[in-house]
Amino acid sequence: MKLTSRSVLRAVLVSTLVTATTGAAVLLATSANAGTTLGASAAESGRYFGTAVAAGRLGDSTYAGLLQREFDMVTAENEMKIDATEPNQNQFTYGNADRIVNLARSQGKRVRGHTLAWHSQQPGWMQNMSGSALRSAMLNHVTQVATYYRGKIYAWDVVNEAFQDGSSGARRDSNLQRTGNDWIEAAFRAARAADPGAKLCYNDYNTDDWTHAKTQAVYRLVQDFKQRGVPIDCVGLQSHFNSQSPVPGNYQTTLQNFANLGVDVQITELDIEGSGTAQAQNYERVVKACMAVTRCTGITVWGIRDTDSWRASGTPLLFDGSGNKKAAYTSTLNALNSGGPTVPTSTTTTTTPPTGPTTTTTTSVPGPGGCTASVSLNSWTGGFTATVKVTAGSSAINGWTVTLTLPSGSTVTNAWNADRSGNSGTIQWRNVSYNGRVAAGQSTEFGFQGNGVGTGMTPTCSAS
Ligand code: G3I
Repeated sequence: MKLTSRSVLRAVLVSTLVTATTGAAVLLATSANAGTTLGASAAESGRYFGTAVAAGRLGDSTYAGLLQREFDMVTAENEMKIDATEPNQNQFTYGNADRIVNLARSQGKRVRGHTLAWHSQQPGWMQNMSGSALRSAMLNHVTQVATYYRGKIYAWDVVNEAFQDGSSGARRDSNLQRTGNDWIEAAFRAARAADPGAKLCYNDYNTDDWTHAKTQAVYRLVQDFKQRGVPIDCVGLQSHFNSQSPVPGNYQTTLQNFANLGVDVQITELDIEGSGTAQAQNYERVVKACMAVTRCTGITVWGIRDTDSWRASGTPLLFDGSGNKKAAYTSTLNALNSGGPTVPTSTTTTTTPPTGPTTTTTTSVPGPGGCTASVSLNSWTGGFTATVKVTAGSSAINGWTVTLTLPSGSTVTNAWNADRSGNSGTIQWRNVSYNGRVAAGQSTEFGFQGNGVGTGMTPTCSAS
């Protein structure tokens, strides 16, 4: 959270006043020190104001100037999607994503990661996969990308758009869904294991109207995850609005009901088609709804200028094509400055939920075969993710086999970066084609997810 000394002082003063008069530790933002940019104004109440950023536009000085001045959170519009980060299986490319992340961080902005698992914008190799091979590839992608960005991401859209539109309330059919209904929770567990410090969000569109079946379905998913201890910290409402899909009258109710499940709520891709006063009023309604909900922690608009939008003809953003502030900008800024309950600091700091994960590491004794292996474990109630590190000895190796025994009753449900002899008991794990050769003293990793407990596994490694 970005706090100016001015806002800290104000928060302390107002906090003292409110606590003294009501006994409630609720901070009230006032307009006494209204910010003059979107980010600064949102920060006055502990919220953020972000934008989607396209790497290809960073060389445009108007665009870059508005980005620097107005926003304190950044989402890569396309550059962190699966087709961008893993164009060929197990070949990861982060060039454009890094440009965005590094720029944001150099300007003191935070980053929302978008997105780790999605039916859309899959690279060709993934579109053609199914079953357990796809499940493993998806989990490997989640693990690799979240690990690469560990410590740099405020919140990940772990899973995007997994539910159908319309009245069914059902999951969207996709190759990922066909790997089994538990694909969403598997993705969340893998993300938590890879980056325990990032907030983990489920993100979707058409989830703004509380009465809609899709909204209810996402609500039940989050409720179920919270009840079973599946790691989830936030819900993203994309909030793409136009005349066919207007801002619903019960929008604030939706935000509040999700927040009441014990998760943060974030407006992740806001744009509202229109112009003039009508558009400005719609932006005001959305921003005021967020400001009224304590755990609505921030708003991201899906682009900077109208001409940057995926819906450019609908002029849905806060700046016109020349970079001038629109009426919608002013109403948004005023709504941010009009105050509301301040986001408690505790909800902006990621904490480890009581159900896990907990991390333990077991290292094998050096094996006779020229390699060693160690297991790093992230456990939660009923499951675990194990990351196994294979390290070559003083000579390079051309292949390896790791043997480890799972505790009785535990089973492997998914694995990546290794072939295995079975799913329970003593399992032999062999390198796959791309990770058998390990230089002297260097390491490679494979991983698996399991049901039951994973503690007490002592791996042995032999090289070939
Ligand atoms: O960069 C290429 C360009 O080289 C090529 O000439 C051109 C030809 O079509 O395509 C360009 O890529 C396009 C890319 O945007 C960059 O502009 C893709 O075709 C196009 O499909 C892609 O659209 C993106 C869309 O997601 C894809 O699903 C939009 O930019 C992006 O704003 C949009 O974002 C999504 C969120 O991720 C999820 N929620 C909905 C939201 C809006 O659709």
